[in-house]
Amino acid sequence: MDKILVTGGLGFIGSHTVVELQEAGFEVVIIDDLSNSSENVLDGITAITGKTPIFEKIDLKEKQLVEDFFKRHNDLKGVIHFAASKAVGESVEKPLLYYENNISTLVYILKELKNLPEASFIFSSSCTVYGQADKMPITENAPVKPAESPYGNTKQIGEEIIKDICKITPNLKAIALRYFNPVGAHKSIEIGELPIGVPQNLVPFITQTAAGIREQLSVFGDDYPTPDGTCIRDYIHVVDLAKAHVIALQRLLNGANKDNYETFNLGTGKGSSVLEVVNSFEKVSGEKLNYKIVGRREGDVISAYADTKKAKEELGWQTELTLDDAMLSAWNWEKKVRGV
Ligand code: UD1
Repeated sequence: MDKILVTGGLGFIGSHTVVELQEAGFEVVIIDDLSNSSENVLDGITAITGKTPIFEKIDLKEKQLVEDFFKRHNDLKGVIHFAASKAVGESVEKPLLYYENNISTLVYILKELKNLPEASFIFSSSCTVYGQADKMPITENAPVKPAESPYGNTKQIGEEIIKDICKITPNLKAIALRYFNPVGAHKSIEIGELPIGVPQNLVPFITQTAAGIREQLSVFGDDYPTPDGTCIRDYIHVVDLAKAHVIALQRLLNGANKDNYETFNLGTGKGSSVLEVVNSFEKVSGEKLNYKIVGRREGDVISAYADTKKAKEELGWQTELTLDDAMLSAWNWEKKVRGV
């Protein structure tokens, strides 16, 4: 059984990936600092898979602790690195916090991997690296645009750091996965998204509004050059996304990679407008959502959806679940968490 480190493994995408890794037969060790997650997530994972992953509460900014961890676990075959801060607005207010949280931690982990006889590394990147792409759907070759925020910049710089180290380290293989918009929850509703405070992202804001925690959803702009005037995104079910991580990891472990640094888009290939997401929610939940159209949100791109060809051809992966599936699972999860 190959042993895999999942950093940020108690977070939203991390926890769903731990489930898929365990179901594929991997032994999982989680590092999480619990800054945006809870230890209870371990119970959810155990309820689904019947296995409790090893968990170590470590702040990856503590370089010595990272070194000690790798000494204790000298049999790791790979690392999936989710641990990072991800609030775009906060990153504008606190850029140094973001560079420290997202970049120094990455460097410390890569320093350890560099010394292993062989290591596979999967990095959480984002479609944010493309900014407003000139052409839809967005292929992996689309130019990386100047970042809109320090958060976005940490993803771009992170990719560059990994590329540079892979160039000179033949024993290190890496894949950067560029996520579009991850949404939904595991169908068991044992795990899901748990945003702290007021959600910045659309889907948790919708489900919290329907659950009565928020009064009203603000739809940011209906005067964009899109069919219904609202922005278009590629909403991918978190379980589909999690499965892609296992496949990408297996590609590296099996030596099926074509280069020792690769990038893949992870999306459905289908763009949905904000109002389509609202309609999907209303349809699957049977709830009427209280929303109003307000002005545009600064920094929003008009449209972003993935070209999925490379992931399909190279990874043999494509999404199986729909936006309706995602909205229903997100709603069932919200109801469970709130006791609605
Ligand atoms: C945002 C970030 C992206 C980051 C991702 C991580 C920006 C510009 N982009 O993606 O860099 O990787 O989060 O989670 O911040 N919307 C509303 N009302 C709301 C919330 C959202 O209308 O209350 C709309 C937005 O205008 C957008 C869509 O819903 O059109 C999706 O928004 P969101 O969930 O925040 O994701 P992104 O902006 O795509």
